[in-house]
Amino acid sequence: MNPSFNRSLATSATQRNTRLQLCLLTLVIVAAAISLPVAAQSIQVPKPSPGLMPNPAAGKALFEKSCASCHGANLQGSDKGPPMLSKIYEPSHHSDAAFQLAVKNGSRAHHWKFGDMPPVPGVTPDDVAQITAYIRFEQHKAGIH
Ligand code: HEC
Repeated sequence: MNPSFNRSLATSATQRNTRLQLCLLTLVIVAAAISLPVAAQSIQVPKPSPGLMPNPAAGKALFEKSCASCHGANLQGSDKGPPMLSKIYEPSHHSDAAFQLAVKNGSRAHHWKFGDMPPVPGVTPDDVAQITAYIRFEQHKAGIH
């Protein structure tokens, strides 16, 4: 067997390998570039209007209209949903963003046994900010934070 022929075979195999690796690397980069914005989009938190001054009284009315059927008239919970006057929902455990996301996307049952929370349509990010202000106010009054 001619040794130089052998060498050139080996070289071209190495080159082919390198080309294949480059190809794979490019694929991975392209796939990441495509999927990253999609992932970022799906966890985008709805934002209330800049300058909105959330007000617990306005939030109370909105809460009674859209949330009280499950979370109870006085945030005490019902047979369909948990109380909001709970350590679980204090700001360090469920931030204001968690409220925006729960209303927009719903929430899988994970803390309780009431089942999933469905998305609540027709409640704007501004409404959620008002509702959250009401819940924070009442949580604070109850000594939760
Ligand atoms: C149809 C019943 C229902 C309605 C209406 C409802 N919720 Fe819920 N919600 C639930 C249930 C059930 C859970 C608890 C899921 C679990 O086990 O953690 C929950 C959980 C939550 C959570 C916690 C989400 C998390 O990240 O763990 C927030 C915040 C919340 N609700 C806010 C609201 C607000 C604000 C409204 C009104 C705009 C509302 N909910 C209306 C049933 C409801």
